Amino acid sequence: MSDILGYKGKRVVVSGCFSGMGHAVAKMLIDLGAEVHGLDFKQCDLPLASFNMIDLRDPESIEHAAAHIGGKIDALFNCAGLPNAFPAMDVMKVNFIGLRHLTEQLLPKMGAGAGIANIASTGGLGWSRRIPDNMAFVTTKGWDAAIAWCEANKDTVSEGYAFSKENVIVWTQFMGAQLIKKGIRINCTLPSPTQTPMMKAFHESSGKDVVDAAAEPMGRYSTPEEQAGGLVLLNSRLASIVNGVVFPVDGGFMGALATGQIDIAKLMGGKKQG
Ligand SMILES: NC(=O)c1ccc[n+]([C@@H]2O[C@H](COP(=O)([O-])OP(=O)(O)OC[C@H]3O[C@@H](n4cnc5c(N)ncnc54)[C@H](O)[C@@H]3O)[C@@H](O)[C@H]2O)c1
Repeated sequence: MSDILGYKGKRVVVSGCFSGMGHAVAKMLIDLGAEVHGLDFKQCDLPLASFNMIDLRDPESIEHAAAHIGGKIDALFNCAGLPNAFPAMDVMKVNFIGLRHLTEQLLPKMGAGAGIANIASTGGLGWSRRIPDNMAFVTTKGWDAAIAWCEANKDTVSEGYAFSKENVIVWTQFMGAQLIKKGIRINCTLPSPTQTPMMKAFHESSGKDVVDAAAEPMGRYSTPEEQAGGLVLLNSRLASIVNGVVFPVDGGFMGALATGQIDIAKLMGGKKQG
């Protein structure tokens, strides 16, 4: 089998491998010949090289799992996430604070040529209007400082989902300029609505009409495998100079939005644009 993506024999780590996009990423990487180490707080059914139970709300469990994987790591896929149906601090921990902590634990095992792919969301598209808040938070040092910042800025954190996804976007761009000095790349994706177990929570919190509006112009939700394709591409050797990028995997949503072809009123759920 040709190995144009360069994953054959590579040691890769996937968080969120129990379901949805993380499960699809792990499966695709196994098919591509990688040695896949999975992390989740629910057991994964795939034939992984190793599986470690991890709770991204708990720094000790993250440290324990990272130490357990050992050895050199070629790629990290941060796919675990929580929707805003959960308490704001749980959402902040899983979607950003835990994601950052896991990445920091694994970075010493990564060298030149390694890649990190994170999943953000169109829910974090407000990032460019709040760069100072995002930078103040994402550059806090360590777990306790991040928690303390959230406690002191509850209005900014709000329900957690939007701010945590802004954090992923801003931190990815910030770290892109830092890690490339060591030859390590970091990017994130902006998925369009995707048919995963999380979709039920999005329908309940935002309403199906709003989610459907974000599925234009393609007119359908994406599949976890299509999202996995974008993530696997970003960490592949084909993307060797792609770094610090916020990569839409959305069938053209961002382009349609930028050129006025999306029904903003529908997208805002009937609310006026703020
Ligand atoms: N589905 C969508 O339409 C959509 C759109 C934009 C962004 N996203 C993002 O994509 C990512 C993947 O979500 P998905 O749609 O595949 O949903 P999913 O619910 O299928 O997958 C989420 C995974 O995260 C794991 N997880 C949750 N809490 C955890 C914790 N405390 N510790 C460890 N693992 C934990 C779950 O067990 C699950 O395997 C998330 O970051 C989500 O915010 C999803």
